[in-house]
Amino acid sequence: MEQMTDVAALIEAAFRVRENAHAPFSNFRVGAALEDASGRVYTGCNIENATYGLTVCAERVAVFKAISEGARSFLRIAVVAGTDTLTPPCGACRQILWEFCGDIEVILANPRGAVEKLRLRDLLPRPFDVSFL
Ligand code: THU
Repeated sequence: MEQMTDVAALIEAAFRVRENAHAPFSNFRVGAALEDASGRVYTGCNIENATYGLTVCAERVAVFKAISEGARSFLRIAVVAGTDTLTPPCGACRQILWEFCGDIEVILANPRGAVEKLRLRDLLPRPFDVSFL
C-alpha cells in the first residue's frame, strides 16, 4: 500500500506490480492499482494456477487486498496489460468491482502510452447487486 495522487502515478504503480504477474500458462501479464478515497493505493497482478480455473485476475487481487486492509471507499482503478487494444476487466472482475467499489473510474493503459478512462457503470450496465436481495 502506498500514497498516490495523480493518474500517471497510479498507472505507474500498475505497471510496477505487473512485473510480479505469475502467468506461466498464458504469458499474459496484467497489473492493477486501486486508489481509495484517502489516496491509498492497493496493487495486484494476475496469479495463475495449474488448474487454470483457480487463476485470479489482477483486479480482484487488488480489490481483495484493499478490503482485507480495511479500505471501503474507492475512487479509481488503473488496469494495464501489453495489448495494443487496451485490456478491460473481465466479466467476473466487473462484478467484483461493482460490489466493492461502485461506479468507479476505470483507467486502461498499455506500455506504448495509450490511456483510456471509462466508468464501471458503462462496462457493467444493469448490474446485479445487493439492492436486489
Ligand atoms: N487477466 C487479468 O488479470 N485481468 C484482466 O482484465 C484480463 C485477464 C488475466 C487472467 C489470466 O491470468 C490472463 O490474464 C489471461 O486471461
